Amino acid sequence: MNTHAASEAIEDKVKELLSQMTLEEKAGQMTQIDFSVVGTPAVSGEEPPIDRTRLEDAVINHHVGSILNVPFTPANRAAPIGTWRKITAAVQEASQRTRLKIPVIYGIDAIHGATYTQGAALFPQAISMAATFNPELSFKEGEITAREVRASGLQWNFSPVMDIGRQPLWPRLWETYGEDVHLASVMGTSYIKGHQGDDFSAPDKLPTCLKHYVGYSFPINGKDRTPAWIGERMLREYFLPTFEAGVQAGAPTVMVNSSEVDGIPGHANYQYLTTILRGEMGFKGFTVSDWEDIKRLYTRDKLAATPKEAVKIAVMAGVDMSMVPFDFTFYDLLVELARSGEVPMSRIDEAVSRILTVKFQTGLFDPERPVLPAEGNFATPEAVETNRQAAREAIILAKNDNHILPLKKDASILVAGPTANLLSVMNGGWTITWQGDSESLYPQDKLTVFEALQTKSAGKVTYVGGQAFDDPIDVDKVVAEAQNHDYVLLALGEKPYTETPGNIDSLMLDQKQIDLANAVIEAGKPVILLMLGGRPRVITAIAEKVPGVILGFLPGMEGGEAIADIIYGDYNPNGKLPISYPRNTNDIVPYDHKPTESFEFNTYKPLYPFGHGLSYTTFETRGLSVEKSQIKMGENVTVHVSVKNTGTLKGKETVLLYLNDVAASVTRPVRQLKAFKKVELEPGQEQSLSFTLTPRDLSFIGIDMKRIVEPGEFKVMVGNETAGFSVTE
Ligand code: BGC
Repeated sequence: MNTHAASEAIEDKVKELLSQMTLEEKAGQMTQIDFSVVGTPAVSGEEPPIDRTRLEDAVINHHVGSILNVPFTPANRAAPIGTWRKITAAVQEASQRTRLKIPVIYGIDAIHGATYTQGAALFPQAISMAATFNPELSFKEGEITAREVRASGLQWNFSPVMDIGRQPLWPRLWETYGEDVHLASVMGTSYIKGHQGDDFSAPDKLPTCLKHYVGYSFPINGKDRTPAWIGERMLREYFLPTFEAGVQAGAPTVMVNSSEVDGIPGHANYQYLTTILRGEMGFKGFTVSDWEDIKRLYTRDKLAATPKEAVKIAVMAGVDMSMVPFDFTFYDLLVELARSGEVPMSRIDEAVSRILTVKFQTGLFDPERPVLPAEGNFATPEAVETNRQAAREAIILAKNDNHILPLKKDASILVAGPTANLLSVMNGGWTITWQGDSESLYPQDKLTVFEALQTKSAGKVTYVGGQAFDDPIDVDKVVAEAQNHDYVLLALGEKPYTETPGNIDSLMLDQKQIDLANAVIEAGKPVILLMLGGRPRVITAIAEKVPGVILGFLPGMEGGEAIADIIYGDYNPNGKLPISYPRNTNDIVPYDHKPTESFEFNTYKPLYPFGHGLSYTTFETRGLSVEKSQIKMGENVTVHVSVKNTGTLKGKETVLLYLNDVAASVTRPVRQLKAFKKVELEPGQEQSLSFTLTPRDLSFIGIDMKRIVEPGEFKVMVGNETAGFSVTE
């Protein structure tokens, strides 16, 4: 069946099913509950950990359409794949005992691999995936994640995050693909395509969910779930395009911004959820609220006078499914609102149709559809290898004075600092547990940075430090031990966190780490600084005094080995910064800033700029040329440049192409990334690259808030070269 016929067939089935549904059954479809509502306490030891009576109450009596999250409350954590298969089978079995046998869709935050299935391939987090500038790796991450989540019996992934990371204090920065719209769009859509294929009813594919629509990532004070003030032009220019790209790539679900923009909570924003998302972007799937956020319109935002009004506001704004998640109040209130006519049946039918459509598209109604076997689909050697490659390409070599790196394998290295010997600091949040900080639950066979260095070395690699991130550091011991070694690898950064618990008041490192760094530097041995964590913490004073700096962010489960590969030169680094790394706490200026931000006394002076990243070889881009010096409005323009490996080692380089609209009726960024290509070159090898710029690339949001292209001059920049062309009417 072709796609058109298939979607018509689904439309017919949805209509038919909807016509048989009662109001209660419809309200149930729009309800999503947390696993704990149907689960047994961890102590009961039951397998699967489901309370059958409560499951029946949810699925059969309340017609619940969706369940999310993990078992083993209160210490929610990853379950073995077998347990997941039993849980999801039990849930489906219950749904088959309902009148209309509508399957439940089980959703999970598999945000860097199957986070909540023990032993899954856990990839670099999005900020690190972005640092690879390698969409193929993002595609493969999507493929592997979908396969591993499917093999776990789960049916829906709350990923990818398409929020733009332009506020480094925000504790979810690492869940984004960084500060640039183009990079994030490319990496996010590649992930979606790998995850969903052409048809996500395939047994190894899975629907994605674009988060968190829209403006969530830009809290003015940096704290999670606090207000953003984003004018319409900025919204359209920076925050909507990634979601638009995700919708075009076929993501069938969207999760709503948990906070507020311009005084309107995400869940109450008709303009964003309906006028723009549906009307302008043509999104056909369903929206799901974020955690408890419909209730919060009443309890937190004081936007609604009662919990019932909150339900009405959210549903009428365009929220199709409520992540309630701990009770059936949404269901009860929605039924009441429909009975009184306050929420029209047409709106409920619309929401339910969208939900049923996605369930059909996911293949959930097919009773023959087997759950993907775990064997050959879960934790395969290929998945581990791809993950390791992703981790290698994610590591950024930021400073390498006098070629201090790579180190010889027989060098003696002292390894110190709170992130040197932990897996959790490389994985961050949403790893095994929500906060990702339960180090004891991490797989025994994965290597920390220290362990990986030790395993690969032929010399003396010593670790001095504690067992946990917050353990006291014996600075005197570190300094004394440094005397017995050729180098010190100083591993600093952040412990894992997710969402609001990760809020901070300053980008500075804590005093304990600063003191350690100063003492180690004083000791006089060459120091290599390794930073791990989800945000760029200010390291300027330290970085200036050490010859080597590696920025690891959150490279995932294979991060230790990848970092050791780079330190010893077994892999030539090629990661690049997907954000501007601030020099000072208030130095939050993105690379694509406005002219005023680098004018007169203002300068763009991050510690390391967007796109920065060194290699053990050298590259040169040259011969930048634009095929036509003049194009007509609406035409494409082709740009050529060649890139040469001018050093002595094989390596990969990402060529970044920036554009500037020289004069426009709305101020334009000094430059904006419009295209990039990553190539691998042997020493001496040169490759020609072509890039096509489309009218969309030349466009911006004009005075009247519409996307336009204005005639005039444009500048193209690659490496140290600039070329130009003009657009005529
Ligand atoms: C987060 C979402 C997540 C949801 C379900 C919320 O607190 O903001 O990103 O998908 O929980 O776990």
